[in-house]
Amino acid sequence: MRFAAISLLLAATPLVVEAYPQYAKRLAGSRNDNRAKYPILRRAAVPYSDQYPYTGAKLDGQSGTGKGGVQVPAPGDTAHEYQDPPPGAYRGPCPGLNTLANHGFLSRDGITTYTEMVAGLQNVYNVDFSTAVALTMLGFVFDGDPISEMMSIGGDATLITGQDGNFTGEYGGVSKHGTFELDVSLTRNDFYLNGDSYSFNGTLFGMMLATAKNTSTAANPLFDFNAMALYRSQQYDRARVENPWLYFPQLALHNYGAATFLYEAFPSSAKNNTPDLETISSFFGAVQLEDGTWGHVGERPPPNWHNRVTPMTLADVTGGIDALYAAYPKDFGANLGGTWFSLNETYTPSTGSNSSAGDSALVCGAYGEILNTALSAPQPYAMYGFVLEKAGPVFAPYNCSFPGLPTSIAGLAS
Ligand code: HEM
Ligand SMILES: *[C@@H]1O[C@H](CO)[C@@H](O)[C@H](O)[C@H]1NC(C)=O
Ligand SMILES: *[C@@H]1O[C@H](CO)[C@@H](O)[C@H](O)[C@H]1NC(C)=O
Ligand SMILES: *[C@@H]1O[C@H](CO)[C@@H](O)[C@H](O)[C@H]1NC(C)=O
Ligand SMILES: *[C@@H]1O[C@H](CO)[C@@H](O)[C@H](O)[C@H]1NC(C)=O
Ligand SMILES: *[C@@H]1O[C@H](CO)[C@@H](O)[C@H](O)[C@H]1NC(C)=O
Ligand SMILES: *[C@@H]1O[C@H](CO)[C@@H](O)[C@H](O)[C@H]1NC(C)=O
Repeated sequence: MRFAAISLLLAATPLVVEAYPQYAKRLAGSRNDNRAKYPILRRAAVPYSDQYPYTGAKLDGQSGTGKGGVQVPAPGDTAHEYQDPPPGAYRGPCPGLNTLANHGFLSRDGITTYTEMVAGLQNVYNVDFSTAVALTMLGFVFDGDPISEMMSIGGDATLITGQDGNFTGEYGGVSKHGTFELDVSLTRNDFYLNGDSYSFNGTLFGMMLATAKNTSTAANPLFDFNAMALYRSQQYDRARVENPWLYFPQLALHNYGAATFLYEAFPSSAKNNTPDLETISSFFGAVQLEDGTWGHVGERPPPNWHNRVTPMTLADVTGGIDALYAAYPKDFGANLGGTWFSLNETYTPSTGSNSSAGDSALVCGAYGEILNTALSAPQPYAMYGFVLEKAGPVFAPYNCSFPGLPTSIAGLAS
């Protein structure tokens, strides 16, 4: 069966398959209904070369040097130049990941792997190693396949990321609502509006810009802490009124983390780390049209962009979440057909915003969330094992202890 299918595929598209044999092999399973649906795409990021090492991370799941201030893409590194997403490619709600895929740091088709993501976050945004592992793992426990170690940065691609004989569940990809993707985003709709909570919405980008003009200046609007704190507050207040099915649990604090990336990850160190309109619009793929509204092109860094000099740590993200939330505290709860139902939860920041990357409490907090979320995966044992295998060694030095959470697959069963 399998070999017959491969020869059919070869007969249909000989040139493409010869160019991408790895992909052909993967797609040519017995699921003969999918071949037309999923076109042949390249599915691997180009390995890093010694000539263009960026911050030194390789496609091996390990740490780079953490030495930033590097121009991305490096002049001359054609493997990592901008390209429009190829036909059939997956893109989703995360401008950070879309940018990585548009530059081939992740597979350009948007079906990426654990190792591509851990390396890409370090090399492009100079995310520190344990933080890159934590962010990547967080993505996987919500949206990825623990056996193939693949994840779609857009919508559900279970039949591509999984393999016959090894399907462990349906994985929604990064666009899946109600997992990592939640209500009250910056430039994406709430799900209730039209079921599309992942595409760029230029109206929302325009609103975010109006807020930035308000908190800084109209001549040089900055997407800094003040702008993001106020805009998140405004978006929440708007959703409370406009979204009859708003769901805003404590988990939605993740979206405050995404807001920190505008002033922590996107600014160029060659431009004094300024989160200005040129920089932010480029990473969001926002282009102003003649009538003043905002359209969308592929996400990318602005010209001559250099990443941060020092690595972005978990402390930067969680400290930012705490501070953004504290600036405009909001009630956690849900609209039920338009009636607000409070969850009566108080958020007490687990850490001060002064912690360093080595702070065990921070790292262990993130690791604990990852382990707990893994237990809600379609196949909890498979996901938990994946986390223990990849993240376990990285977080071991922090001596985290989670009473009640097993430290091995064997422990899960007891
Ligand atoms: C340093 C690396 C990253 C940067 C700079 C980044 C940037 C961003 C930004 C700016 C947003 C807000 C978009 C908006 O609301 O309009 C966002 C949203 C999102 N990101 Fe990322 N991101 C990074 C890493 C990741 C990773 C590793 C994952 C998962 C694998 C991820 C998944 C998401 C998801 C699911 C959303 C949508 C959240 C929502 O609004 O509901 N991001 N990201
Ligand atoms: C399933 O995955 C495991 C681990 O990656 C591998 O050893 C095995 O060969 C795979 N089975 C099939 C049927 O592909
Ligand atoms: C963009 O967001 C605005 C404000 O929520 C909304 O009115 C509009 O319908 C959205 N546009 C699209 C195309 O979803
Ligand atoms: C401008 O900022 C003030 C407070 O800083 C706020 O009350 C007001 O709603 C803001 N307006 C806009 C459009 O952001
Ligand atoms: C929150 O408190 C209100 C008022 O006491 C109560 O009506 C509501 O049921 C509570 N919600 C939850 C989830 O306990
Ligand atoms: C953070 O550090 C500053 C200066 O070192 C100190 O004044 C402040 O109280 C600290 N804040 C917390 C929450 O520990
Ligand atoms: C973890 O435990 C080891 C052995 O007891 C110790 O040397 C190390 O300092 C601890 N690390 C942290 C971050 O507490």
